[in-house]
Amino acid sequence: MVPRASILALLIFVLIPPITTARDHHGFRGTLTRIHQLAPGKHSEAVRRDSRRIDFLSYTSTVVVAATNPSASAQGVVKTGGGAYHMNLSMGTPPLTFPVIVDTGSSLIWTQCAPCTKCFPQPTPLFQPSSSSTFSKLPCDSSFCQSLPDSIRKCNATGCIYDYHYGIGYTAGYLATETLSVGEKSSFRNVTFGCSTENGGPMDNTSGIVGLGRRSLSLVSQLGVGRFSYCLSSDPAGSSPIMFGSVANVTGTNVQSTPLVENPVAPGASYYYVNLTGITVGATDLPITSSTFGFASDGTGGTIVDSGATMTYLAEAGYAMVKEAFLSQMGNQTRVNDERIGLDVCFTSNGGGDVPVPRLVLRFAGAEYAVPRKGYFDAAAVDKQGRVVVECLMVLPPKGNISLSIIGNMMQMDKHVLYDLDGRRFSFAPADCAKV
Ligand SMILES: *[C@@H]1O[C@H](CO)[C@@H](O)[C@H](O)[C@H]1NC(C)=O
Ligand SMILES: *[C@@H]1O[C@H](CO)[C@@H](O)[C@H](O)[C@H]1NC(C)=O
Ligand SMILES: *[C@@H]1O[C@H](CO)[C@@H](O)[C@H](O)[C@H]1NC(C)=O
Ligand SMILES: *[C@@H]1O[C@H](CO)[C@@H](O)[C@H](O)[C@H]1NC(C)=O
Ligand SMILES: *[C@@H]1O[C@H](CO)[C@@H](O)[C@H](O)[C@H]1NC(C)=O
Ligand SMILES: *[C@@H]1O[C@H](CO)[C@@H](O)[C@H](O)[C@H]1NC(C)=O
Ligand SMILES: *[C@@H]1O[C@H](CO)[C@@H](O)[C@H](O)[C@H]1NC(C)=O
Ligand SMILES: *[C@@H]1O[C@H](CO)[C@@H](O)[C@H](O)[C@H]1NC(C)=O
Repeated sequence: MVPRASILALLIFVLIPPITTARDHHGFRGTLTRIHQLAPGKHSEAVRRDSRRIDFLSYTSTVVVAATNPSASAQGVVKTGGGAYHMNLSMGTPPLTFPVIVDTGSSLIWTQCAPCTKCFPQPTPLFQPSSSSTFSKLPCDSSFCQSLPDSIRKCNATGCIYDYHYGIGYTAGYLATETLSVGEKSSFRNVTFGCSTENGGPMDNTSGIVGLGRRSLSLVSQLGVGRFSYCLSSDPAGSSPIMFGSVANVTGTNVQSTPLVENPVAPGASYYYVNLTGITVGATDLPITSSTFGFASDGTGGTIVDSGATMTYLAEAGYAMVKEAFLSQMGNQTRVNDERIGLDVCFTSNGGGDVPVPRLVLRFAGAEYAVPRKGYFDAAAVDKQGRVVVECLMVLPPKGNISLSIIGNMMQMDKHVLYDLDGRRFSFAPADCAKV
C-alpha cells in the first residue's frame, strides 16, 4: 500500500503546479519546436540566419576574450535567431505564456516588456510588469546585476540597466525577477530575467530567448538543475523533448561522453566547448592537429555545441580538409556550383535524394560522434515534381574572420544529447526522439 499522505502529495503535485525554489526541484520536461522547417531551397535562408548569429557569437567571444576580469566576461544577452528551436515559457502572476528561442550559446532569459520604446513584432502580447503581482526590479547591487560585463551594464536610478549592441542590432532594458514556469508542471519563484524595452534586429517570430549557457544568469544555472538534455527529431512532425535536472539522462549501451572544456583565456564563458580532436570522412582520418579546432593563445578558436545555429561551421583549415575529402571520395558524382543554394559542396541527384556519400565521424576527446546522413548531407533543391535534384554537404566555413567552430542543430538531430554541467561532460547516443 502506498501511504495516504504520499497519494495526497502526488495529487497536489499533479493538480497544482508546485511553486518551488529551484534548487530542491526534481526535474521537468518541455517540448521544442523547430522555428523554420528544413525544406530544400530553404538552406540559403538558414545560412543567412546563421551568419547573423555567428556575428553575434564572434562578437561575444571577442568580449569574452577582451574581458580583463574573467568573472565579468560576456554573456550572450541577445540573439537574432538562427535556424533555432523554440519552447514556451510562462511568466508572472497571472502567467503570460510566450515562445522563446532555446539557446545554449547565451546565458540570459529575456523578453520584451511594456511600456516599450522600440520593440520588434512578436507573436504574443508584450509582458506587462505592472499587471503581475510577482514582478520586482533587480537592484544594481545584486550579484546577478554585478555579473553583467561592465561594457553593457549601465546602472542608474531605474535599476540594473543593460545596453547591448552587437553586429546588426541591439537590445536594452533592465533586469528583474519573476515567477517562471517551464513545461506544464514546474514553477519557480524569483527567477532573474531581462525586460527589454528597446530592440533592433529580427527575432524569428518569437518573444525572446531562454539562455541555457554556462553562466550564472542562464535558466539552468539559476534553477540549479545541474544538467539538461534534448532530442531533436529529424521528422518535422515528430516531437523534440527537452529534459532538465534528474529526468535528463542519456542511457543505453551506445552512450558516449566527452569532457566539456573551458576556454583557458576566459574560464566561465557561456559556451559549451568540446574538444574536437579528429574527423573521419569515409575511411580517411583527416590530418587534424591541436591547432585546427583548439584554442589559440589569445582564446579565439575552440569548438562549441550550439542549439541556435542550423548548419555546422568548421574553422577554415579544418573545413578545407573536410571539403577536399568529400570531393575526392564522391567519385563520379557531378558537382553543382550554384550560389543561389548558399552551400558549397553540392552534387546533382537523379530525383531519389540518395547520392552515395562517405560516412562522417567527429572525434571528440574520448568519444566518437557518428553523424547520421541527414545530419550532414541533405536535399538542397527539388524540381517542380518535388524530386530532389541537388544534395549538399551541410557543413561550411564560418562567415567572416572567425575561427570558432560551431556544431549546429542539424548535426544534433536524432541523437539524445546531454549537457552535464555538474559532471562537466557532454554525452550523446543515437535516439528515436519520439521514445525519449
Ligand atoms: C506554446 O503555447 C501555445 C499556446 O498555449 C501553444 O499553442 C503551442 O503549441 C505551445 N508550443 C509549444 C512548443 O509547446
Ligand atoms: C536609465 O537608463 C535608461 C537607458 O538609458 C533610461 O531609459 C532611463 O530613463 C534611465 N533612468 C533614469 C532614472 O535616469
Ligand atoms: C530574489 O533573488 C535575488 C537575486 O538572487 C535576491 O537578491 C532577492 O533577495 C530574492 N528575493 C526574494 C524575495 O527571494
Ligand atoms: C508567428 O507565430 C504565430 C503563432 O506562433 C503564427 O500564427 C504566425 O503565423 C507566425 N507568423 C509568421 C510571420 O511566421
Ligand atoms: C544515468 O544513467 C546511467 C546509466 O543508466 C546511470 O548509471 C546513472 O546513475 C544515471 N544517473 C542519474 C543521475 O540518474
Ligand atoms: C583535447 O584533447 C587533446 C588530446 O586528448 C589534449 O591534448 C588537449 O589538451 C585537449 N584540449 C583541451 C582544451 O582540453
Ligand atoms: C559512377 O561509377 C559507378 C561505378 O563506380 C557506376 O556504377 C555509375 O554508373 C557511375 N555513375 C555515373 C553517373 O557515371
Ligand atoms: C583575421 O583576423 C586576424 C586577427 O585579428 C588578422 O591577423 C587577419 O589578418 C584577419 N584576416 C582577414 C582575412 O581579415
